[in-house]
Amino acid sequence: MAESRTIGIFGAGWVGLVTGGCFAELGHQVIVRDVVPERIDALETGRMPFHEPGLPEVLERNRARIRYTLDARELTEADALFICVQTPPTYSGDADLSYVWTALDDLPRVERRQVLVMKSTVPVGTGEKVRAALEGRGLINVGYVSNPEFLSEGRAVQDFLDPDRIVIGAFADEDASAVEALYGGIETPVVRTDVASAEMIKLAANAFLMTRISFINEIANVCEAVGADVVEVARGIGYDHRLGPHFLRAGIGYGGSCFPKDSLALKQLASNSGYHFQLLAAVIEVNELQKRRVIQKLQKHIGKLRGKKVALLGLAFKAGTDDLREAPSLVLASRLLAEGAEVRAWDPVARPGELMKGAVLYDTVLEAVRGADAAVIVTEWDELRGLASKDVHEAMARPLIIDGRNLLDPAQARAAGFAYEGIGRPTSPTEVLPETHERDLEAELNR
Ligand code: UDX
Repeated sequence: MAESRTIGIFGAGWVGLVTGGCFAELGHQVIVRDVVPERIDALETGRMPFHEPGLPEVLERNRARIRYTLDARELTEADALFICVQTPPTYSGDADLSYVWTALDDLPRVERRQVLVMKSTVPVGTGEKVRAALEGRGLINVGYVSNPEFLSEGRAVQDFLDPDRIVIGAFADEDASAVEALYGGIETPVVRTDVASAEMIKLAANAFLMTRISFINEIANVCEAVGADVVEVARGIGYDHRLGPHFLRAGIGYGGSCFPKDSLALKQLASNSGYHFQLLAAVIEVNELQKRRVIQKLQKHIGKLRGKKVALLGLAFKAGTDDLREAPSLVLASRLLAEGAEVRAWDPVARPGELMKGAVLYDTVLEAVRGADAAVIVTEWDELRGLASKDVHEAMARPLIIDGRNLLDPAQARAAGFAYEGIGRPTSPTEVLPETHERDLEAELNR
């Protein structure tokens, strides 16, 4: 167990609340500060601003140790101050650090040493800039540590409390030790390093994961052309201990709050330093094209999309979250609407509202697929595993399933009377309608 300390958190967003809740679980006192009064009010009355499994329980269990506030002066008590604010991309693709600088403006002045800990994903070099800013403000007692998060949505509490590693980049050893001590009780390798390397570890880890996804998606596309099955290929690759089985699920492309933003930020960071990160540029482009491949698959089966009813099943960027940031569903819906299709949508938790203007949201899968010419599995929700059912078959105008996540067993779906197409899996020739509309992918992207 860690020796109990007081931890201040800037930002009651997803990272801030997971970090705060989990540090309280480890026995620390936590003060979470946000600038949005409604959010603080909601948290004080136990209402969650987003869906994250296990987090409401952690916050509730540790209620006595967590305080929410609008007032940054309350952070004076804190031994460590974690910055957990957003760093969205700017028009240039750089990371927008304005929330970080605002947090710095709000730093309380204290006599004893405090450590400022960066959890937000920031460009390499931010630590140096923050150190200079702290010195410029006369905050010489404030140490700086880069301690990136590797939390995956839907399993963030588990990722925090049972991580693969903890990365701590510091300018001074005493600050690194102070932050390491906060994680007491967690058994995992601790990577102590310099600040720039810690910042780069986060960006490189994400870039590598994205590279694996775009790689397997391209293998899937080649599999389609040559009659191989990417699910089998990934299985065969994954047993190689040098490669491992993770992040080899071919699909509809990655989305979310981190990958798309962080890949752009790293590409931009490299090019700002005069380096063209060719591989990363390709990873990003492959992903954009992958999101659009479903359109071609639909056209292949049902011809022109004008007037056709297409059900998008699952809208969140992945299962287990209601997060729609950079979700492939948004790209698909707007491409379908632009082609003149009628978009019917369903998701168990995500509520797109204005983001999917023109699409109609239904409460159940069965309502969404009623009268549809095609059903597209966009998110791998468990609720969709039984999609190839008699009820769905009867409800649809045309029993066609495009499985963007390879969630269903192709043989079972076909045996149930559906025309079925996954990603990177063989398609039997009988399922392809004579009227094909092969499109140039580049042309798709440039629309
Ligand atoms: C990711 C990283 O995993 C996490 O370490 C980082 O801190 C933030 O970004 P997250 O965005 O929550 O977390 O989701 P993740 O589970 O990593 O998936 C990201 C995207 O990749 C999703 O759209 C997912 O559907 C897609 N994906 C993932 C694939 O398409 N194939 C895979 O094999 C794995």
